[in-house]
Amino acid sequence: MTRILGIETSCDETSAAVLEGKGDQVTQKSLVILSQDVHRVFGGVVPEIASRAHLTSIVPVVARALEEAGTKLDDLDAVAVTNTPGLVGALLVGVSYGKALAFSRGIPLLGIHHMEGHLFAAALEHPDAVPPFTALLISGGHTLLLDVEAWGKYQLLGATRDDAAGEAFDKVAKLLGLPYPGGRYVEQLALEGNPKRFHFARAMVRKNALPKDDDYYAFSFSGIKTAVLNAVRASADIEADKADLARGFQDSLIDTLVEKTWRAANAFSRQRVVLGGGVACNRTLATAMRTRLEPEGITVLTPSPRLATDNAAMIARAAFFRFEQGERSGLDLNAYASSPIPGVVAA
Ligand code: KG4
Ligand code: ZN
Repeated sequence: MTRILGIETSCDETSAAVLEGKGDQVTQKSLVILSQDVHRVFGGVVPEIASRAHLTSIVPVVARALEEAGTKLDDLDAVAVTNTPGLVGALLVGVSYGKALAFSRGIPLLGIHHMEGHLFAAALEHPDAVPPFTALLISGGHTLLLDVEAWGKYQLLGATRDDAAGEAFDKVAKLLGLPYPGGRYVEQLALEGNPKRFHFARAMVRKNALPKDDDYYAFSFSGIKTAVLNAVRASADIEADKADLARGFQDSLIDTLVEKTWRAANAFSRQRVVLGGGVACNRTLATAMRTRLEPEGITVLTPSPRLATDNAAMIARAAFFRFEQGERSGLDLNAYASSPIPGVVAA
C-alpha cells in the first residue's frame, strides 16, 4: 500500500490531496481545494496575485489535507507536485514546497504534468476509466485529443491551433457580460436559448476529411469567438439575444468536440471515451457525447465537476502510475510554463 500527497498550484486553485492504494486500486483519502476568488474582479487570472495567494495558502491547505486523511507526514511514501504546464510563479510555490517536504522527510518527489493529471481524474471515480481509451482533455488552456493505449503511452491526435475550448467559453462569456470564469454561465444561459437563431460555422469539420489530413482531428476556436463578437455588435437588443447567442456558440463548439472524438474512437476502435478538464463539467456536452457514441457501443466517462476542474487528487492519481514505474524527480525539479505530456508521441 502506497500513500501519496498531491499538490497542485498551476493556476488559481491551491489544492492538496492524500491518496492511498496500489495500481489502479487507489482511494482518495482527502482533497482540499482553495479557489482564489480574487481574480474575478479582474476578469482573468493575474499571475503575480495567484503566486502570492498560493504562498499564503499552501501550508494550511496541505495541513488540512493531511488532517482530513488522518495521515501524518511520516506516513507518506511520496510527494507529487504539478511542475508543468501553468503559470511559472504559481507552479514554483507548489514545487518549492513539495521539494522541501520531500527533502525534510527523506521521501521521493515526483513532478507531474498537469494535463496527465486531468487524464487520470476520471479513474478516481470510474473503475472503467483505464486504458485503452480515447481521451478528450478540455481545459482553460488546452484542448487535447489523445489515443491512450496504456498509461504513459499517449498518441496526440489533435490539439487546438489557437484558443482552447475553455478559453473560447470564457471569452464568449465576457462578450455576453457574464462573470469570469464564464463556462458554466454560458452553459446555463444556453439552456434557455433558441438553437435556430444563430448558426456558427463548425471550424475544421469538413465532411470529406480523411484521417491523414491535418485538420481531421485538429481544433480551432478563435473564429467562432470573432463570429460571436460580430453578432453581439450587430444585435439591436443584446439582453434579448444573449441566450440565443450562447446556444448557437455552445452548439457549434459541442458539435466539433463530439465529431472529433467520434473520429478518434472510431479510427482506433476504442470502446471507452474519457473526458477531463474544466469544460468536461459541461453536462450538455456530456449528453451530446453519449447520444452520439453510446449507440455505437462506446461508453463515455466523465469526472464529477470537483475532479474535472483543477485539483490535487488527479495529480496524486497520476503520480501513482509514475511512482510504480520507478520514476523519481530530483531536487533540481523546475517549473515550466509549457511542455509535452510525458510519453506522448505525435500521430
Ligand atoms: O481544468 P480547469 O479547471 O483549469 C485549467 O486547467 O484551465 O478548466 C477551467 C475551464 C474554464 O475555461 C471554465 O470556463 C471551464 O473550464 N468550465 C466550463 C464549465 N465549467 C468550467 N466550460 C463549459 N461549461 C462548463 N460547465
Ligand atoms: Zn487544468
